[in-house]
Amino acid sequence: MKTYITTAIPYVNGVPHLGHAEDYLLADIFAKYRRMQGDEVRFQAGTDEHGNKIEKKAEELGIEVKSYVDENSQKFKDFIAKLGVEYTDFIRTTDDNHIKNVQKIWEKLSPHIYQNTYKGWYCSGCERFITDTEYKDNNGVCPDHQKPYEKLEETNYYYRVSDFKDEIREKIESDELKIVPEFRKNEILKLLADSPDVSISRPTEHLKWGVPVPGDENQVMYVWMDALSNYITVLGYPEKDISDFWPASVQIVGKDILRFHAILWPAILLGLGLPLPKVLLCHGFILSNGQKMSKSIGNVVDPLEVLEKHGLDAFRYFFSRHIDTFADSDFTWEKYEDAYNNELANDYGNLVQRLATLCKKNGVDKAYLKNYNPKAYEKKPLNAYFCEKMDSFKFSDGIDFAWEEISEINKDLEETKPWSLAKEDKEAAKRVLGNLVEKLLEKNEMLKPFLPAAEKVEEIFKSDIIEPPKSPLFPKEFKK
Ligand code: MSP
Repeated sequence: MKTYITTAIPYVNGVPHLGHAEDYLLADIFAKYRRMQGDEVRFQAGTDEHGNKIEKKAEELGIEVKSYVDENSQKFKDFIAKLGVEYTDFIRTTDDNHIKNVQKIWEKLSPHIYQNTYKGWYCSGCERFITDTEYKDNNGVCPDHQKPYEKLEETNYYYRVSDFKDEIREKIESDELKIVPEFRKNEILKLLADSPDVSISRPTEHLKWGVPVPGDENQVMYVWMDALSNYITVLGYPEKDISDFWPASVQIVGKDILRFHAILWPAILLGLGLPLPKVLLCHGFILSNGQKMSKSIGNVVDPLEVLEKHGLDAFRYFFSRHIDTFADSDFTWEKYEDAYNNELANDYGNLVQRLATLCKKNGVDKAYLKNYNPKAYEKKPLNAYFCEKMDSFKFSDGIDFAWEEISEINKDLEETKPWSLAKEDKEAAKRVLGNLVEKLLEKNEMLKPFLPAAEKVEEIFKSDIIEPPKSPLFPKEFKK
């Protein structure tokens, strides 16, 4: 099967923060899992480099915009690599190819584009036009950016979303475009009912840093028009036939940007005559000590510091098991330390250490297993319950289940006591150990999408001589 997974492309007006990790990790867990199931996976990541925010920030810093975005885009690329994420495509919205293809997309959409004068409110933090109702509901201040909405009057190009509203509603209601989790679907259906046509350009007197509108040198494209198209320009649209990988199997976005992906984006796709993605997976926000991360509160968590503390496995473990995919979730250093020491190091790290030590001591090695327990090396299909959870994007249920199974092996080890048995009956102890290795190798497969250490554990027990790692897999103090 062919699987296409996409992630939101972050703005490059800052460096990566902890929240940015969520898109990548969810996408990577799913990608690794689907690859294990034999799929050919295409996985896009990238950076969103146009728009007001970026233009302003570079200006403030007195840096040329292009060098500013070059520098920050690279930081995101490095960050993704540090998370152990295996993407296949990285797109920048300032790439020449992307720009050329977005302009072609604009031309294809022209039957649904008209000019009009916009008079109303705008939030430059959200890069979004604000309706009067929203303005009133929020007392004129953006709740996400704590900035007053700006008054705007300008002549722009509009995209006639109204041409597609009925079709979008139908596809969302029937789950042909499935919004996960379900409660977000209802939110979007409500928004869709009131959603106006969308202004898709800005006059160059207000914004220069954008893709030029074909045939009008006084207008550049609205950043979302340009950014959303990345999901198909990265596949080569419209120059190439993209039907191998489009529609996307799943598009991963945060709750603040679901509206763009569930209304404007489907309207663009329908305007192009393209099918809609199968799933929009919407995750919640990561909070820091119960609050939104913000520079002014001073509670922004640096993801590189978290990675440094106990390494990549701890980072991915915490995010998979202790950050709720769909609701907002809190990161605290205390919770992080507990999860590392009491779960990852105790349940998994110690098990591997003890079992490998016992195997070495009692002569359970590859040759022994091949003779007496060849099943230990057989590839077994992944557990059906686990797959059901993973295929419905309930990754934390998936890792919870895997963890319970690993804990069972710990119990078995305690109950069978091969170290005592070896004193009376060496052969019986070896058989017990062989069975435990077989179980561990089988259950360990389920950890592979989450933890890079699972590959190391497999190597340990598949080596000619089974030996415990020279230093513990998860030492109390991580040293680089
Ligand atoms: N550039 C747009 C996305 C365009 S996609 C065609 C954008 N960029 S962003 O940098 O603001 O956000 C990038 C992603 O990070 C989004 O999915 C957003 O929801 C996510 N997050 C930003 N802060 C977050 C948290 N604190 N927690 C979890 N995810 C968060 O929006």
